[in-house]
Amino acid sequence: MSDIYQRIYDRKRMAAAEAMSLIENGDFICVPTGVGEPPTLLTALSEQRRNFHGVTVGQILPLRKYAYIDPETVDHVRHLAFFFGGATRPGGNEGWIDYLPSYFSEMPSLIRNRQLRVDAVFSMASPMDEHGFFALSLATDYTMAAVSMARAVILEVNPNVPFTNGNCHVHISQVAGLVESEEPILEVSLPKIGAVQQAIGEYVTDIIDDGSTLQIGFGAIPDAVVMQLTHKHDLGIHTEMIGDGILKLLECGAVTNRKKTYLPGKMVATFALGSQKLYRFMHRNPMLEMHPVDYTNDPFLAARNDKMVSINATLQIDLLGQCCSESFGPQPYSGTGGQVDFVRAANRSRDGKAFIVLPSTAKGDSISRIVPGLTPGAHVTTSKNDVNYVVTEYGLAQLRGKTARQRALALIGIAHPDFRGELTEAARQLRLL
Ligand code: COA
Repeated sequence: MSDIYQRIYDRKRMAAAEAMSLIENGDFICVPTGVGEPPTLLTALSEQRRNFHGVTVGQILPLRKYAYIDPETVDHVRHLAFFFGGATRPGGNEGWIDYLPSYFSEMPSLIRNRQLRVDAVFSMASPMDEHGFFALSLATDYTMAAVSMARAVILEVNPNVPFTNGNCHVHISQVAGLVESEEPILEVSLPKIGAVQQAIGEYVTDIIDDGSTLQIGFGAIPDAVVMQLTHKHDLGIHTEMIGDGILKLLECGAVTNRKKTYLPGKMVATFALGSQKLYRFMHRNPMLEMHPVDYTNDPFLAARNDKMVSINATLQIDLLGQCCSESFGPQPYSGTGGQVDFVRAANRSRDGKAFIVLPSTAKGDSISRIVPGLTPGAHVTTSKNDVNYVVTEYGLAQLRGKTARQRALALIGIAHPDFRGELTEAARQLRLL
């Protein structure tokens, strides 16, 4: 059987420049999250961008600054941000990159319901196995839904991409073009952890019980929490992003996945971001399953884990607990991602805990991140009705079941001491106190 697949493979193999002939004017090209982006294909598209009109590239968290991300050529090829990163943020702020508001968990359904039309997929993939399957292991996310809807699926096959278990496999019969590359998968190192992140991590880890199942969000503080969990027992992983922090918890024995009440013994994730060591660990590892994001981030499924713990960061929070985690006022910074999906999962889970973490100040202690009202135009990520534990370096505020007045008092109590007086005065003027 594998000979047949190899013959089909050889027939579909082409140079990246040639693969661009599978793209038509007006196409929407779907690209996976982070390291799932295929550099050879996106470089070829960049080189040929002036030959196209009205092509859109949609993606969460692009990692490289490709030449097509260019204000001069947006009528040819334009990026659409599902979540901004360093390469696309300037375009978002200047208005030549648009963005798509959505919960990460709902992106596959937007694609399947044709609310988001996908014509083509460009994705990294593992080498083909003997049954004719490739694994979209680095970013399974919305890309599996896009594969099921697209006219042209074009894979960049790289031997460094792990072949993983789960629901992340594409058959050769679904593929229009194959381009080969061999460069190492991009590595993303753990962020630097300072005293503030360390202090926040301690408050959070203090109330994480043994046997909890974790979702670890994006940013320095979620990683700081992970580093402090090494003394815990029988933790489990049901997350969106798998990174090196989780690997460390496995190596030290804190994560066993044995006490999970949903998929015991297995870790699930939808995209990976880390070191070569992490990508090697994922290869044919029976403990790990990579699944589409409408499975990993479905709050109802994740909540089937008792003691589900979500740890996510925010940029600014008001005195009711509304969290802006993705913009500075109206200027987009990142995106909604899976934050709300997992806050809701933890809230629904028996003995679950949803943590929102943030340093109390920004810009060298000159501004408070706890504010009477969000900056006008701010994008509310987690609402006042979803938020529960909020943690700064000054402590922890538990908000669910608390009144507006109680929330204001609790949040002022974990603000930087220099701002507590003015926050109290503002809360009085707002009739919260
Ligand atoms: N006003 C002005 N500047 C602010 C600010 C505020 N209220 N809050 C933060 N900043 C600045 C910081 O000082 C920092 O600046 P620097 O880069 O010059 O140091 C920058 O904004 C980033 O803030 P930081 O707290 O370091 O962010 P982070 O890298 O830890 O990321 C989020 C935090 C909230 C942006 C990120 O977690 C996110 O995008 N979350 C939304 C999606 C999500 O949670 N997904 C979860 C599943 S992966």
